[in-house]
Amino acid sequence: MPAVDVPLQGARFGQTARRDWWWVQPLLTFLGLLIFLVYSFWAAAQGDNYRSGPYLSPFYSPLVFGPHSWLGAWPTWWPAPILSASWIVLWAPAGFRVTCYYYRGAYYKAFWADPPSCAVGEPRKSYWGERSFPLILQNVHRYFMYLAVLVLIVLGYDTYQAFWFTDPATGAVHAGFGVGTLVLLVNLVLLTCYTFGCHSLRHLVGGYLDRLARRPVRQGAYKCVSCLNRRHMLFAWMSLFMVMFADIYVRLCAAGIWTDWRIF
Ligand code: FES
Repeated sequence: MPAVDVPLQGARFGQTARRDWWWVQPLLTFLGLLIFLVYSFWAAAQGDNYRSGPYLSPFYSPLVFGPHSWLGAWPTWWPAPILSASWIVLWAPAGFRVTCYYYRGAYYKAFWADPPSCAVGEPRKSYWGERSFPLILQNVHRYFMYLAVLVLIVLGYDTYQAFWFTDPATGAVHAGFGVGTLVLLVNLVLLTCYTFGCHSLRHLVGGYLDRLARRPVRQGAYKCVSCLNRRHMLFAWMSLFMVMFADIYVRLCAAGIWTDWRIF
């Protein structure tokens, strides 16, 4: 069989034989993540309007310092006007998202074109990879995963609290269900689907084993995580925008711009 030499030439940046609209996906990813980044920095810097009735914005949960918080008043040494309560907690879910395997692939393409898309020329000739600094730090994802599960438990408590309303006239607490309760509930469900579809969690519950047979509990857990993992991209985006909307909802209710509609 005759041998054929095929010269391996690096394509120029953006050069491709693709005829489809390959640039749409990285562009939408870029815009979606940029909107979320700008909004979350702005919301975290506000330091107010994060609580409305029984609703607490997920951007400020767990509320460590301040009124109705876990540890009470701000310590005198904390620069509260500069660093709001959000900065104390937001780094954990943010670190979980930034190091997520799905998001890495998405923002490597969308933000620094590495590559812009499959079979499209990159702006650089060398392969950077994740085996050296700084991208090797992405390996901390598995540890952020533990923190993300803890944050979920706290958000579950916040959602439970969203079912309990205080009567402003009598001060009596009674069960109820408002649109805000629904918003926080949907947010919790989507964040749970995203977190429990994590690749690191999938490895932890059984992915590292050669055989899952005769381990029914692990097998069940592995199947559940795998099922969510197949839709990881979908839950990543839905939960991203839902958590942003939950903050917007609580913020606008707290500012008196929106009125929370009570279902019962
Ligand atoms: Fe996406 Fe872990 S891989 S959250």
